[in-house]
Amino acid sequence: MDNKVYVFDTTLRDGEQVPGCQLNTEEKIELAKELEYLGVDIIEAGFPISSPADFRSVQEISKAVKEPVICALSRAVEKDIKTAADALLYAKHKRIHTGLGASDFHIQNKFKSTREQILVQAVHAVKYAKSLVEDVEFFAEDAGRADVVFLAQMIEAVIGAGATVVNIPDTTGYCLPHEYGAKIKYLKENVKNIHKAIISVHCHNDLGLASANSVYGLMNGARQVECTINGIGERAGNTSLEEVVMVLKAHPYLNLQTNINTQHLNPISRIVSRMMRMPVQANKAIVGANAFAHSSGIHQDGVLKNRENYEIIDPAEVGAGDSKIVLTARSGRAALNFRLEKLGFSLEREELNVTYEKFLIMADRKKNVDDLDLQQLMEEALVLK
Ligand code: KIV
Ligand code: ZN
Repeated sequence: MDNKVYVFDTTLRDGEQVPGCQLNTEEKIELAKELEYLGVDIIEAGFPISSPADFRSVQEISKAVKEPVICALSRAVEKDIKTAADALLYAKHKRIHTGLGASDFHIQNKFKSTREQILVQAVHAVKYAKSLVEDVEFFAEDAGRADVVFLAQMIEAVIGAGATVVNIPDTTGYCLPHEYGAKIKYLKENVKNIHKAIISVHCHNDLGLASANSVYGLMNGARQVECTINGIGERAGNTSLEEVVMVLKAHPYLNLQTNINTQHLNPISRIVSRMMRMPVQANKAIVGANAFAHSSGIHQDGVLKNRENYEIIDPAEVGAGDSKIVLTARSGRAALNFRLEKLGFSLEREELNVTYEKFLIMADRKKNVDDLDLQQLMEEALVLK
């Protein structure tokens, strides 16, 4: 089996659906170029039928970005599909992403339809898209809650109609990792023509399991992951690109590789956060402000002896600079000494003991002691000498 995992970034489509995160065309082009530099394989640039501005964004990104495949979303209706194809006119590598609901819940309560009618519509949509572009991805919406036997039937039918990629979304973020992995495995083993298409995972984070589910899907045969920078997206968000990429890198025995330039993960995270006005939580894996910060005495002592005592990733590898030793009232003498040495102070053991007592008083008051505070602490110590 091929071990390359295709990274399909949907920050500009599923990510941009978040209220308040909308970008204008110029911002989208800028971000698309950053995604190209990051090394993503596919950029889902928008949903062209949804608005003239989205159409224009897909069109302009198609002109400006040449390395990745540019993908446009559509519902499984001809008007949407044709509009997506028109927006992709200038793309060097283009893909239409079309689909509809696969779960009985969606079929009955959203489409007011039947499994039989849905199958006919799915096949028709893929055939029509295929008459316009070569690369067609089909999404089986709410596949996470769909009956797996019907799902397999649907996937076999759309591959027969020409789909090159089949997307199995856990649209509502409901699945547990082993269940989602089993669903992908079932498709891999029971869909007769599955070798003709790539299976894609697209997970939402309603239960905080999007990245875990995506990894399980990949471990069970999927070879494309749909994700967003910082995990932004509808409700609780989508799979975080940075998390899945680093899970695969940190576990080489999985033998799954991406093309991602990991040193650009932190810079692009900050760009997305700034452009979309979405702060990144401090404890977010890989890109949070505290992802490589150590504040308790025990951990700081361990990191200063050997970074790998408490870090499984080198922050430089993900563009996060150096590990940070944060001084708080929980810090120990080793951390204080380390930070003082960085400022040019070299203390004897007894001097350090005295300074440490003063530092603790300051830290209880200040919560976080920075370089300016340390300078002040040392100046006062010199005056009192
Ligand atoms: O979550 C989902 O099912 C989607 C599809 C449109 C792919 O975003
Ligand atoms: Zn989605």
